[in-house]
Amino acid sequence: MVTPILKWAGGKRQLLDELKSRFPRSYSHFHEPFFGGGALFFDLEPEDGTINDTNTRLVNFYKQVRDRPDELIELCRSFDHPESDPNPDRNFAETNRKGKEISNFYYQQRELFNNRPYGDEYDELEEAALLLYLNRTCYNGLYRENSSGGFNVPIGRYSDPDWVREQEVREASRVLQNTEIHNTDFDYVRDKVEEGDLVYFDPPYEPMSPTAYFTDYSADGFDKEDQQRLLDFAKELDQMGVNVILSNSGVMYEMYDEAGFHVEVEGATRAINSDADNRDEVDEIIATNVPPKSRRTVGQQGLSDF
Ligand SMILES: C[S@@+](CC[C@H](N)C(=O)[O-])C[C@H]1O[C@@H](n2cnc3c(N)ncnc32)[C@H](O)[C@@H]1O
Repeated sequence: MVTPILKWAGGKRQLLDELKSRFPRSYSHFHEPFFGGGALFFDLEPEDGTINDTNTRLVNFYKQVRDRPDELIELCRSFDHPESDPNPDRNFAETNRKGKEISNFYYQQRELFNNRPYGDEYDELEEAALLLYLNRTCYNGLYRENSSGGFNVPIGRYSDPDWVREQEVREASRVLQNTEIHNTDFDYVRDKVEEGDLVYFDPPYEPMSPTAYFTDYSADGFDKEDQQRLLDFAKELDQMGVNVILSNSGVMYEMYDEAGFHVEVEGATRAINSDADNRDEVDEIIATNVPPKSRRTVGQQGLSDF
């Protein structure tokens, strides 16, 4: 069981046991088309399979973790504390792209991380190191982009942030060795799956109410049409003999139930808005085509573990 490297919105660490209790007794390859922080993948440590996300810089990050862990760790070690002075030898030591003053190392790194979306030269290894650095030092570990694709989360206040994560990077690199990494829409998996494989879908959640913005993961959202497309796709995979497990918000219950999936509401109702007068509470569902009698129980190992 490996700890995810990044903090990511919608991370599924709380739901791991519930997800694993729906697993079939055995399966061939594991696929995770909405990867984010990859909590389930890293918990499982699958031997092979595919992962995917539409967020290009996130996908680049995992490729660098897989292929160049030593260089990534070394580069992260060279970074300074977020509140220290900007590096005078790099761009944006004094002002950002808009001419606004840059007062510390954090905001300079944020500007450098945005080289790719703003059409400036970038280096893939450096971009990956910066993504990890910003994830560990930004406010609340959020990932948010503006409409131009620029990462725009302000600095966080941590007394002793660890932006190197050496052990986590090394372990994740090991687990990713035989994993194909894609940067496209979730339906790439149609060409990758075989009968007997397991696919875990964790899309951006459909909002419970118009004020609950669950789709704010990156510049491109995931709308109702995408939700319908995903449901149709899950049905198609079911027909192909593929094991499907999916998490989503409670509003999707009926759609999956009517389509013949086994759907259950997860007990813990999460408040996603800390404003006490304006709480958007959300039930989560887990839907699967794995029938209860074919499941393994939590803690029991899959055949591939032997
Ligand atoms: C709920 S998060 C996944 C969280 C993840 N399970 C974890 O444990 O951290 C959903 C992810 O789907 C990605 N995404 C959005 N639209 C997508 C699409 N059409 N195809 C694939 N991934 C998409 C987002 O960038 C985001 O990282």
